[in-house]
Amino acid sequence: MALKITVIGTGYLGATHAAAMAELGFEVLGLDVVPEKIEMLAAGRVPMYEPGLEELLAKHVAGIEGSSGRLRFTTSWEEVGEFGDVHFVCVNTPQKHGEYACDMSYVDAAFASLAPQLKDGALVVGKSTVPVGSADRLARLLAEQAPVGVELAWNPEFLREGFAVQDTLHPDRIVVGLESERAEKLMREVYATPVAEGSPFVVTDFPTAELVKTSANSFLATKISFINAMAEVCEAAGGDVVKLAEAIGYDERIGKKFLRAGIGFGGGCLPKDIRAFMARAGELGADQALTFLREVDSINMRRRGHMVELARDAVGGDSFLGKRVAVLGATFKPDSDDVRDSPALNVAGQIHLQGGQVTVYDPKGMANARRLFPTLGYADSALEAVRGADVVLHLTEWREFRELDPAELGAETSSRIILDGRNALDAEAWREAGWTYRAMGRPRA
Ligand code: UDX
Repeated sequence: MALKITVIGTGYLGATHAAAMAELGFEVLGLDVVPEKIEMLAAGRVPMYEPGLEELLAKHVAGIEGSSGRLRFTTSWEEVGEFGDVHFVCVNTPQKHGEYACDMSYVDAAFASLAPQLKDGALVVGKSTVPVGSADRLARLLAEQAPVGVELAWNPEFLREGFAVQDTLHPDRIVVGLESERAEKLMREVYATPVAEGSPFVVTDFPTAELVKTSANSFLATKISFINAMAEVCEAAGGDVVKLAEAIGYDERIGKKFLRAGIGFGGGCLPKDIRAFMARAGELGADQALTFLREVDSINMRRRGHMVELARDAVGGDSFLGKRVAVLGATFKPDSDDVRDSPALNVAGQIHLQGGQVTVYDPKGMANARRLFPTLGYADSALEAVRGADVVLHLTEWREFRELDPAELGAETSSRIILDGRNALDAEAWREAGWTYRAMGRPRA
């Protein structure tokens, strides 16, 4: 009989994972403790913007006309325990308030609720990003509180926002920390389709599986901060970081990806994950090994301040008082409506606090941005945002912004100065339309 799968926690990761499991042919039951979320998903609607996810849900959610009916949602732990052979725990692990460490309360609550409801022989699979050592602890908890034969596996998730569906259905690799052949057999059954398509299946112990995730994110963060450090040097020396990134990227050992200099990384993962990793290493007595991440973090945070300085310079140097600043982009990256720790909004907020009149426009992030920064000004289009602006800041590299007509925008602004915080616009096209174009880590024309 085909395995029955449950997904605990239907946020970004869980909603995508549940839909993907249904797409792979399994019967899936998703659980969340927030009834409103469950109601939305059961109606085939997604609480966030993620390309392709709503379509995938509509294809599988029971009750939607023409769907496979393989995907259902509930708020009942009892139903989940009775239904599932394999349970994926996908709840979030935010940064603790006022600390670097990871807040494990959602994971702990999920395991505590799930354990007594499980069927004999069920496999619980942790997907949340957790401090190394958590899986060992949770396995002991299951041994005490769940029926005999219940086992744990740890299966970190590497999906990128904006590509969540694709990354889940066709992962670069599947990493599974486990302790028995039976658990491996079950995990191979779950991932049979992507493995047959060629996704490598890497089996490890628990701590290694947990560390793969945090070290992968640390590496990516380091790569971005490395190129941003080079951008600082380029600015001081009159070099061009975009050319530099292209040139070093031809070396296959370095590679071209994740070398886009700009206002740095944000979002719900990289910043909090490197901080939680440092905190955990400290607890383990290995803090020296990760002191470089402190530098990675501070290079990254410096980028935001630097963009504010460039903007202040552009409007005359002393202050933002009486100046209008247009901000294109609010989300932490394009193709997402996520504004968590968004460098774009952070820059907009700093300028606002320094007395600038800021108007923000983002193709998908407006509602979330308004909630987080209600005191900023907002516009319904890029054209409206730049009206009367003394400087325009390009802070999230949406395609819509690359396709803007510089001449049309220039007719609306009070001066034609654009600062490209993502090194993504066509500098020549903007200059030809009479703009002063400045980017981070590149020479002034
Ligand atoms: C990241 C990891 O990529 C993913 O594997 C993990 O599972 C979750 O965290 P995500 O947060 O969706 O995914 O975003 P990502 O595409 O990694 O970008 C993170 C941030 O880095 C964004 O703010 C982006 O704008 C920035 N970035 C990325 C750069 O500044 N330069 C680059 O070259 C690449």
